[in-house]
Amino acid sequence: MRTIVTMPGDGIGKIVLPEGLRVLRAAGFEADYVHADIGWEFWCKEGNPFPQRTIDLLAEHKIGLFGAITSKPKDKAETELAPELRGKGHVYASPIVGMRQKFDLDISIRPCQSFEGNPLNFIRRRGDGFMEPKVDAVIFRQNTECLYCGVEWTNPPAEVRRALETHKKMKAFAHVPGEDLAISCRIMTRGACRRICEAAFAYAARHGYKSVTVCEKANVIRETSGLMRAEARAVAKNYPDIAVWDTNIDAQMMWLTKNPEDYGVIVSSNMFGDIVSDGFAGLVGGLGFAASANIGRDVAVFEPTHGSAPKYEKLQPAIVNPIAMILTTCMLLDYLGETDKAARIKNAVAAVVKEGTVRTYDMLRLTGGPDVFSHGAATTTQMTDAVIARL
Ligand code: NAI
Ligand code: MG
Repeated sequence: MRTIVTMPGDGIGKIVLPEGLRVLRAAGFEADYVHADIGWEFWCKEGNPFPQRTIDLLAEHKIGLFGAITSKPKDKAETELAPELRGKGHVYASPIVGMRQKFDLDISIRPCQSFEGNPLNFIRRRGDGFMEPKVDAVIFRQNTECLYCGVEWTNPPAEVRRALETHKKMKAFAHVPGEDLAISCRIMTRGACRRICEAAFAYAARHGYKSVTVCEKANVIRETSGLMRAEARAVAKNYPDIAVWDTNIDAQMMWLTKNPEDYGVIVSSNMFGDIVSDGFAGLVGGLGFAASANIGRDVAVFEPTHGSAPKYEKLQPAIVNPIAMILTTCMLLDYLGETDKAARIKNAVAAVVKEGTVRTYDMLRLTGGPDVFSHGAATTTQMTDAVIARL
């Protein structure tokens, strides 16, 4: 029997993850689940939000289901650390970024598909009324490199400055004192660009998407964005039936609010993929609906896109939308080849959304709080129950 490492994390991660497991069980998916510690709680208690024992479990079982974690600024990180750990050189680092880098989870997949009847769906105004185009975009985001690679300085060491000054464009900054200079490097490699492009095209072919859009900024960021674009072109040669479009991230953000239905698979580097996937998620229901997968060669971790929403953590009964987590379990099932079960769950979500009698507070556009139920909102559990009833 396969074993899934469950990492609820902090805040509402602890609420939604068990809901996902309920749906997996109800769909007849059999697995063992092993809990693993992660998040702010373990930063405070142990000085490490991503303990070695969690890394070991992931290395052993290869598949993780993750909720969400809380992270806070540097000063808070130090003051919330257990007194005996303070001043010992512990430095907070995001466990999600750590997980992606540790296991080289370089392919992030973020499907953004609208469900009929979702009151949060994008609509377009026309002269004589409104139309609601079906959005079905799947974003492939390179997950480990680019501006998120962590190679950065404020007041860079002299040798870094000297090295940079071998580039003539660096002259413009020659007069800037070190302490006034911050540098974050955008580093991309051909291999990683190739892998994300191959994953994107293969997915498009397998699922019948007609286009792959390479979303970068190659007219300005010529080297790194240019590399992604070149690799996409090379991979595209193997897929003559799929159209390849290039867009710039800025223009893409405008077009997706005009004609989101034009886009199928989108492939992007880390930061632009982060941006464009949030943009599309906003058109199909936002954080309550946004699921994602982080896939490496050996290990894969599945998570809703949302964070720990600490302000809703303590509300009883819980109000948050479990659909993002439920759709996350579909991605996990797809990865394991359990495509029928994944489709059944997704269809059940679609049926509940379409019927429209069970809606969490976000779907009703309410401000979160204990009074949402008196305005007709369903609890987290009621939403999961409704999905399970439709399986
Ligand atoms: P967030 O995603 O936790 O919440 C933002 C807002 O979105 C919430 O206040 C709520 O109104 C709504 N929301 C989120 N999930 C929802 C759900 N399932 N159903 C209904 N509404 C939902 O982002 P925020 O507030 O910026 O960050 C809170 C904490 O989460 C921070 O410590 C942040 O660092 C962390 N975070 C963690 C992430 C992760 O674990 N992958 C991702 C983003 C933020
Ligand atoms: Mg984001």
